[in-house]
Amino acid sequence: MRLRLKKHLQSRLGQAENLLKVDTQELNSHIATQNAEWLNWQEVFGNDNPVCLEIGCGMGGFAKGFWQIFPNLNLVAVEKLSNVIVSACEKCQDCKNVRFLNAGAEYLEKYIAPHSVDTIYLNFSTPFQKKTYANRRLTNPRFLNSYQRLLKAGGKVIQKTDDDDFFAWSKEQFEKCNWQIVAITTDLHNSPYAKNNIVTEYEQKFLDVGKNINYVCAMAPKE
Ligand SMILES: C[S@@+](CC[C@H](N)C(=O)[O-])C[C@H]1O[C@@H](n2cnc3c(N)ncnc32)[C@H](O)[C@@H]1O
Repeated sequence: MRLRLKKHLQSRLGQAENLLKVDTQELNSHIATQNAEWLNWQEVFGNDNPVCLEIGCGMGGFAKGFWQIFPNLNLVAVEKLSNVIVSACEKCQDCKNVRFLNAGAEYLEKYIAPHSVDTIYLNFSTPFQKKTYANRRLTNPRFLNSYQRLLKAGGKVIQKTDDDDFFAWSKEQFEKCNWQIVAITTDLHNSPYAKNNIVTEYEQKFLDVGKNINYVCAMAPKE
């Protein structure tokens, strides 16, 4: 089923002040990353604060909360669907430390310099069917290896998901790729890690029906 495009999408994207780039995704991602156009964080944010990524930001609830809870960190919120990111941008017009990148995770290394990111957030990533689409899962080893190249030494991925199978599979991938599990729980909201947690749009839906939220924080291996 094709997603119906939002009315005035192009002009709304044009007006989105904190939208950094709209990737055309014409090239295959491997070729794209060879034509790097790395963003300069000092120019983008006007400060030297640590930079975090959220991949698959959806409607921007996390980004909005991030601005309130972590004003001394910067966030680049990444989303592949322009139809979705436009609403996130509009929601975060006054979030001074948040910018948006309209690109698939496959294209991040085109725009982001190696070892320039502190933390990567994967909030309720699409679980995709393991049998057929495991390579699209954002905790697939090809993505973990890419995150490792983007993260600074000691950098972390923080994943939250309602999907218990996807969570167990992700934990296996972290271990297989030699990431160190720093914190883990299958019940985030009844754990010490709930402090400073930012509830996303999807998370709220699952909390409303009493679903447990899985959480893992994993540190990238040294290169
Ligand atoms: C289930 S939604 C979760 C949205 C939001 N993080 C939340 O918690 O409310 C997953 C989002 O990830 C995006 N997404 C999926 N695969 C992606 C990829 N490879 N690169 C960037 N975004 C992706 C989807 O378009 C969708 O908006």
